[in-house]
Amino acid sequence: MLSEKERSKTYFIQTFGCQMNERDSETIAGMLEEEGYTPSEKREDADVVVINTCSVRENADNRFFGQLGVVKKIKEKNPDAIVAVCGCMMQQKRVTDRIHDKYNWVDIIFGTMNIDEFPKMLRERIAEGRQEFHVLDAREQIAEGLPAARRYSFKAFVNIMNGCNNFCTYCIVPYTRGREVSRSPENILSEVRNLAAAGVREITLLGQNVNSYGKAEHLEKDFCGLLYDIAEVDGIERIRFMTSHPKDMPERLIQAFRDCDKLCGHIHLPVQAGSDRILKKMNRHYTKEQYLGILERLREADPDIAVTTDIMVGFPGETEEDFLETLDLVQRARFDSAFTFLYSIREGTPAAKAPDQIPEEIKHDRFDRLVNALNTITAEKNAACVGRTERILIEGRSARGGEGTCTGRTESFKLVNFLCDESRAGQFADVKITEAGTFSLFGELV
Ligand code: SAH
Ligand code: SF4
Ligand code: F3S
Repeated sequence: MLSEKERSKTYFIQTFGCQMNERDSETIAGMLEEEGYTPSEKREDADVVVINTCSVRENADNRFFGQLGVVKKIKEKNPDAIVAVCGCMMQQKRVTDRIHDKYNWVDIIFGTMNIDEFPKMLRERIAEGRQEFHVLDAREQIAEGLPAARRYSFKAFVNIMNGCNNFCTYCIVPYTRGREVSRSPENILSEVRNLAAAGVREITLLGQNVNSYGKAEHLEKDFCGLLYDIAEVDGIERIRFMTSHPKDMPERLIQAFRDCDKLCGHIHLPVQAGSDRILKKMNRHYTKEQYLGILERLREADPDIAVTTDIMVGFPGETEEDFLETLDLVQRARFDSAFTFLYSIREGTPAAKAPDQIPEEIKHDRFDRLVNALNTITAEKNAACVGRTERILIEGRSARGGEGTCTGRTESFKLVNFLCDESRAGQFADVKITEAGTFSLFGELV
């Protein structure tokens, strides 16, 4: 048996929230590995436990404090374990104050804008034994050159910008991620080239609103220009991006779905609501008809394009009539799938102060009706795939199908299960779709 000293120190990271947080966790993992830590299978065995938090909705907050209660037990059993908390919730003073007061056994707090400081904070925590709490409110440049321990060797997230300038009135993100800051095209391209050289075939460009890439910096290159540059990189076969805001959909980007071969036929285009009155109150800067017009142009450019979205019910002041507009939009837009949300009050956002908050039971009733409408359409869209042959990037063993079953995604981002040797993960294959479920497809290799 290895002695305590010989045993390598381990880490465990728990990630909540969106792809931005997932990408940040890859950086945190990469930095920990540079410090000599290795991943732990179980959180309770880890020497360093990191919780990367999300604050987009209230239940995300509650889940975090619930998790902290559990993590405290790890600390009681192993007082040398180090607990670090980070992510969007840490950018809110009321959260860090609460941790100071009630959870003062937490060792390290850092925010979304200073993850690069984590290794130094960790070393100091170990050497000096004092708590390390540091969060930045703003950052003008994104830290470059940080390592990343990526989950897949063949597909990767590439962050192109941080922050958001849109201030949708319900949303906390502009406060937790700060103002928009874009990376330079050179840094992004060099990362993509390195990934391609390391065997990555699929890239997903990440940002809260990738369409406004470079605007704050007045960069010559806009998002579309960046997309075409990335498409030139040998080895990269598929490009995706998320998220796009419907208010910034230049014609050239729409046409890229026809003209750029490597761009996958899928767009995630959050609509949020179907009522113009509510869209205006949300500060979204488009109408229902404008949104449907964009979908029409996208489908002209690429008739097979899949469209997914985010929709919210119960925004303050939403009437039954407003909600019916959302249902009408859903029928007309025919989304391939959607993430649905119950509006949740976020302290510090303008909508939190609105007097006409919607009672929970009405929100839930609308939510159920919305989900039913969306599921029917998703099932129809999936059923229409049966008989088609799709090009799949094989991702590995399927969680649902068991041994000998792999999953992968179509270009349109639909999940497919099929019999296949796991060793083929990372390869492309043609799969004929034989059966459709509500949330995934089944097929066979051809
Ligand atoms: N940048 C992306 C989305 C970021 S948050 C965009 O602009 O589309 C992801 C989703 O969470 C949002 O699209 C929205 O539907 C949902 N969301 C954000 N704030 C919310 C709130 N206060 N209550 C409920 N859902 C919310
Ligand atoms: Fe939030 Fe709106 Fe920014 Fe998306 S665009 S992150 S919903 S403020
Ligand atoms: Fe959540 Fe922060 Fe993403 S609030 S949704 S993790 S940007």
